[in-house]
Amino acid sequence: MDQFGTLDNLLQEERVFRPLPQLVIEANVNPQELEAHRRMAGHDPLGYWEEAADELDWFKKWDQVLDDSDAPFYKWFPGSRCNIVYNCLDRHIETYNKNKLALIWEGEPGDSRKYTYFELYREVNRVANALRSLGIGKGDRIVIYMPPLPETVISMLAAAKIGAIHSVVFAGFSAKALRQRINDAQAKLVVTADGFYRNGQIMPLKETVDEALVGACADCVDSMIVVRRCKVGVDMTDGRDFWYEDLIRNERNISPTEVMDADDPLFLMYTSGTTGQPKGIVHSHAGYMVGVHRTLNHVFDIKPTDIFWCTADPGWVTGHSAVVYGPLMAGTTTLMYEGHPNYPQADRLWNIVAKYGVTIFYTAPTMIRMLMRFGIQYTRQHDLSSLRLLGSVGEPISPEAWIWLYKNIGRNECPVLDTWWQTETGMFMISPLPISLLKPGSVTKTLPGVEADIVDRDGNPVPAGKGGLLVLKRPWPAMMTGMWNDPDRYREYWEKIPGMYFAGDVARKDEDGYFWIQGRADDVLNIAGHRIGTAEMEAAFGAHRAVHECGVIGVPDTIKGEAAKAFIVVRPEVEPDDELIKDLKRHIRNELGPVAVIKSIEFRDNLPKTRSGKIMRRVLKAEELGHEIGDLTGLEDED
Ligand code: WT7
Repeated sequence: MDQFGTLDNLLQEERVFRPLPQLVIEANVNPQELEAHRRMAGHDPLGYWEEAADELDWFKKWDQVLDDSDAPFYKWFPGSRCNIVYNCLDRHIETYNKNKLALIWEGEPGDSRKYTYFELYREVNRVANALRSLGIGKGDRIVIYMPPLPETVISMLAAAKIGAIHSVVFAGFSAKALRQRINDAQAKLVVTADGFYRNGQIMPLKETVDEALVGACADCVDSMIVVRRCKVGVDMTDGRDFWYEDLIRNERNISPTEVMDADDPLFLMYTSGTTGQPKGIVHSHAGYMVGVHRTLNHVFDIKPTDIFWCTADPGWVTGHSAVVYGPLMAGTTTLMYEGHPNYPQADRLWNIVAKYGVTIFYTAPTMIRMLMRFGIQYTRQHDLSSLRLLGSVGEPISPEAWIWLYKNIGRNECPVLDTWWQTETGMFMISPLPISLLKPGSVTKTLPGVEADIVDRDGNPVPAGKGGLLVLKRPWPAMMTGMWNDPDRYREYWEKIPGMYFAGDVARKDEDGYFWIQGRADDVLNIAGHRIGTAEMEAAFGAHRAVHECGVIGVPDTIKGEAAKAFIVVRPEVEPDDELIKDLKRHIRNELGPVAVIKSIEFRDNLPKTRSGKIMRRVLKAEELGHEIGDLTGLEDED
C-alpha cells in the first residue's frame, strides 16, 4: 500500500471522529434539530420539503408539493411560479447583502476581480438585455463553453434570468464533443472566451468553437459572444460573433426577471452514460432551487461571514450547485480560481485560502491525492487558520487521503464532509453535517427527506456489511426533471430495479447505517472525478482507421483514481507499433478532449464476446486486475 491508500482500506476503516464542542454549539443545525428533521422527514417528507421551499421567494406558491401521478416523471411544486435567479440575486438587493461580496475570482496570472451582489446583479442584467437583443428568449438553449471566469457565472445567471436554458460545456472538451452537445441541444447561441490561462500557457478557446460550428447544423447557432480574456488573436465572423464588452456597454442596468413555471428547464448538463451518446440531464427552476438551497445550507452550515470555495469547474454539476446557484442563494461569498492548482507551484491553493480567508474548502479526492504527492511543506507555508469546514466529492476518498486533509489542512479541527450526489440528483443526497460523527471514507447517512438503500439486482435489501447496488427510494426536489429529447433514457433509471432510482454505484451500509461508496456499477469510468463512458471511448477508438474492434475498461490510477485501458484488434492490413499507440492517443484527445485519460493500449488478436457479439468488458477487467468474473461491475454486459 502506498501513501494514498487503496479503496480496499475502506473495508477495514473503523476510526470515528467527533466534532469539537464549539462547532456543535455554533452549528446552524444542532444534533437535536437534525434528529427532529429526520423524524419529520420520516413521516412527512413532503411537509419537510415544503418547509424548505418556504425559505425562498416565489412569484406564486405551489398548488401541491409533489405530483406523482405520472411517475417516474415527478413534478415538484406544480402550479408555482418562480425564477432561481430571483433568489440568487434580486432578493439580496433588498437586504444587507446588497453590498456584500458575492463573487471573488482569481486568474492564474494573479489578477483578481470582486463583485458585490449589487454589481453582479447589474452586470447580469446588462447581459440579460444583450441576450434578449440577440433574439434569445424563454426556452431557447445557449451553450456556455468557458473556463472559470466571472463571465461564465454571469452568462449562466443572465440566461436563467430571461428563461433561456443554459448548457455549460467544460472547456476541456474537444470541438467534436462540443459540436455533439450544441447539436443535441439545438443551441441558438454560444458564449466563449478568446482563450484562458492554464499552467502558465495561453490556451486558445474561440477557435475550437469555430471548428465545432463547421459541422453543426448551420441554422441552429445564430450568434456567438466572445469574452476577451487573454487578448489572443481570433477570427470574428461578421454578423455572428460579438465581443462581450461591446455588447453590454450600452445595455441598461435593470432587466425584468422572467416568471417561470416550476418545471421550466433551467439547465442541461451533459454527462456520460453507458452508450456512445452523452445524455442531456435536465434540471428545472423550482425543485432544483429548493433541494440545492436546503442541502447546501445544512451541509456547509453557511454563515454570513463565510468565504466558500468549491474548486470544481463551472462546467460540471458541482460547479452549478456549489459554485454558482447554491452559494448565491445562500447569500454567501463564492470564490473561483481560473487556473492550474500547481501553478506556479504546489502551494497555489493554500496561497488563495490564506489570501482571501477562505472558511469552507470543498474539493475532490483526485485533487487531494495530487497535493499529497507534493508533501506538507507547501501547506505549512500558509496561514490556513481561517478554514472551518472541508468537503469532498466526486469519487470515494480513501481513509488515508481523508486523514491527510483533516490533519494537514484542517488542523485536526475541521470536519471533512464527504458528499455523495450526482449530476442527476442535483443536490447533496448522502452526506454528514458538521455535527455528525465521521468515519473516514464514509459518506455517512442520507440527508433528511432522502431515502437510500443497498439492494441486490432484484431490489431486495442486502444485509449490513454486504456490497450491493445503491438505490434511492423516493423522489427528491432537485432530481433531474428529464432527459433532453429522450424520455426513454430517463425512464431507464427507474426501470432497472422497478420503483427505485438506480444510481449506478456499488456501495455498502455498515452496522451503524453508514454508507460506503465503492465505485460505479455500470460501464462508466470516473477519471479524476469526471464521468466518461467506456462505450463513448470505444466509439471514439472505432472512428480511427486502424481499429477493427475495441474494448475499454477502467484501471486504477494513483492520482486520477481511475484511467482507461484499451484492448484493440487492428485491421488486417495494419501493423501495430508504438507510432500507432501515439497516434491513437492523439486521436482520442481530438475526439473527446483531455478528460479521456488513456493509461495504456494493448493490441490483441481477438476480444472475449458474448454469444450475441457484445464485447465482455468484465472479462477483460477480470484478466487485467486478477478479480473474480461475475461481480457487480459488469451489469451492462449481460445478455
Ligand atoms: C458519480 C456521479 C455531483 C458530484 C460530482 C460528480 C461518484 C460522487 C461521491 C462521493 C464516492 C462519489 C459516484 C456517482 N461520486 N460523489 N462522495 N463518494 N463517489 O458527479 O459526474 O454526475 O458523477 O460520482 O460514482 O455516481 P457525476
